[in-house]
Amino acid sequence: MTGIYFSGTGNTRHCVERFVQCFDAKNQAFSIENPEIARLLQPEEIIVFGHPTHFSNAPKMVRDFIANHKDLFRGKRVFIIATMGLFSGDGAGCSARIFRTIGAQVIGALHLKMPDCIGDKKMLLKPLEENKRLVREADEKICTAAERLKQGNPTQDGLSMFHHIAGLFGQRLWFYGKTRSYQNAPKIDHEKCTACGVCVPLCPMKNLKIANGTITHRKRCTMCYRCLSHCPTQAITILGKEVYEQCRAERYV
Ligand SMILES: Cc1cc2nc3c(=O)[nH]c(=O)nc-3n(C[C@H](O)[C@H](O)[C@H](O)COP(=O)(O)O)c2cc1C
Ligand code: SF4
Ligand code: SF4
Repeated sequence: MTGIYFSGTGNTRHCVERFVQCFDAKNQAFSIENPEIARLLQPEEIIVFGHPTHFSNAPKMVRDFIANHKDLFRGKRVFIIATMGLFSGDGAGCSARIFRTIGAQVIGALHLKMPDCIGDKKMLLKPLEENKRLVREADEKICTAAERLKQGNPTQDGLSMFHHIAGLFGQRLWFYGKTRSYQNAPKIDHEKCTACGVCVPLCPMKNLKIANGTITHRKRCTMCYRCLSHCPTQAITILGKEVYEQCRAERYV
């Protein structure tokens, strides 16, 4: 078994690493951004695949990754982990449908409530203690789910028709435009930006570039919130207008 994940601010990385290690302490997990990912996955029979939920969907970058690696996933057994801040309906179901289309076998799925990473929307943010509690609860759920998978009775979160309808009508239909394609984001406050360059190599989409002391972007944002969460001067916003918290999983563990 190997874990792979896409993780903007670390929640999903934390959950996938923990899951595969609860299953067997020797297991490892890798980011889909790892240039060696195809070689690492090739010999594995069971893949634990993790992604955050964006507007009750899998992020565009994740959907593209699965579709672009269909030869790698065909015939594999995939267990999906979808993390979320509040509600997803069928977060795992969205990637499960793509996996099935390309010939992978989805053996189970797990939904995990984690701290919300949208640090520029005040109403979504929770106090530190509550976020720490969420992570502790997720950790317990992860070990139980890993044990169930070992016993041949994997959890099936988000995979039913009921979940599909809840995800579709609960959010996905109304926010379809936000996840259908890559976005014209982020917004850079050039008064605050010191052109330090920290955000440029962090972006999984290579969306950010720096030229003549100015940061610009290529309108190919998957809205992962990693740049916003790391900018030392809080010069970046995505959906909101002000940074209230720079969410990073290691702060809540
Ligand atoms: C653009 C965007 C949209 C999101 N939409 C949802 C959502 O529909 N439902 C939900 O429960 N959480 C939503 N979240 C919260 C994330 O799914 C959650 O914080 C996740 O654990 C982040 O994982 P990461 O740190 O691995 O990127 C959204 C986050 C972002 C950035
Ligand atoms: S990390 Fe922030 S301050 Fe540094 S270049 Fe990027 S936007 Fe500017
Ligand atoms: S620009 Fe920022 S939010 Fe968009 S994909 Fe890159 S790091 Fe993620």
